[in-house]
Amino acid sequence: MAFTETILHWYAENGRDLPWRRTRDPYAVWLSEIILQQTRVAQGWSYWERFMAHFPTVEALASAPEDEVLRLWQGLGYYSRARNLHAAARQIVALGGFPGTLEGIRALKGVGDYTAAAIGSIAFGLPAAVVDGNVYRVLARYFGLATPVGTTAAKKEFTELAQRLLPADEPAAFNQGMMDFGATCCTPVNPACMTCPLQPSCQAFATGRVELLPVKKTSAKPVERHLTYVYVRVDGATAIRRRGPGDIWQGLWEPWLTEEVPDGARQVVRDFKHQLTHRTLLTDFYLWEPPVRPPLPEGYVWIEEAELDRYAKPRLVELLLEKL
Ligand code: ADE
Ligand code: SF4
Repeated sequence: MAFTETILHWYAENGRDLPWRRTRDPYAVWLSEIILQQTRVAQGWSYWERFMAHFPTVEALASAPEDEVLRLWQGLGYYSRARNLHAAARQIVALGGFPGTLEGIRALKGVGDYTAAAIGSIAFGLPAAVVDGNVYRVLARYFGLATPVGTTAAKKEFTELAQRLLPADEPAAFNQGMMDFGATCCTPVNPACMTCPLQPSCQAFATGRVELLPVKKTSAKPVERHLTYVYVRVDGATAIRRRGPGDIWQGLWEPWLTEEVPDGARQVVRDFKHQLTHRTLLTDFYLWEPPVRPPLPEGYVWIEEAELDRYAKPRLVELLLEKL
């Protein structure tokens, strides 16, 4: 059986039954794709359900205050996605409905080539091939391609190949079949070659190169950044501030960020490690309980500790607060 037919057949038998696959409502599909951009299906599932329950339509999402969207997003990380989601909802409403062409979908905030192809194929049956990490891996192994992923050459080569393999009449099943196949059969480590339906014609398997493909471009070591937070507690109140524009935590709330730890503050954790895409954060976290409220640096406000849950915070801050 040729590659495409094998994937379609495998998907029909093994495809995951995911709630957003039971609809072709472009809003529901779009929401799922934004959530799944940097989140695994197992984690994203409940968020999708909560968003759909809270904002059943794009109009409901568009008219919500940003804080509410950020709060519902809490725990998913990469908050720029939530802000783009909200901005795109407003774009869609202004357009008078969800765009039905690839170019129109691609013009939405937070939507790149990959997400546009996913939404276009799933919601509108457009013949656009999805090329993500799963697709790179499956194609690199099956066809024995050693072009380093992450390069312009690889993007062109794998996109053209995926596009040639895509069946024009079943783009949604093929794209999602590739995602699921890569996520569950042709996995990064310990792929299930022994039970894989592609094995008889897989180049990597035939030549013993499964472990060596796909080839990764050697990337620079992520940069390390040190920061220090002080959690001030006075009579059940604490001090936080909202991050201004210009970074990934824009609009989120954090405790007192400082370089000078006040006398009497107790260290809660040291060099707490938190990985972002391009940097590793190493955080020292202190608890300080002075007898009276100290003056706060510009931008900080006192809030009741019991109200902390109502403020959207970076994932790092949530993890630190759990250590208190
Ligand atoms: N990851 C991103 N989009 C997906 C989809 N439609 N199905 C499964 N996993 C995905
Ligand atoms: Fe992937 Fe192994 Fe199947 Fe080849 S045989 S496609 S490497 S799971």
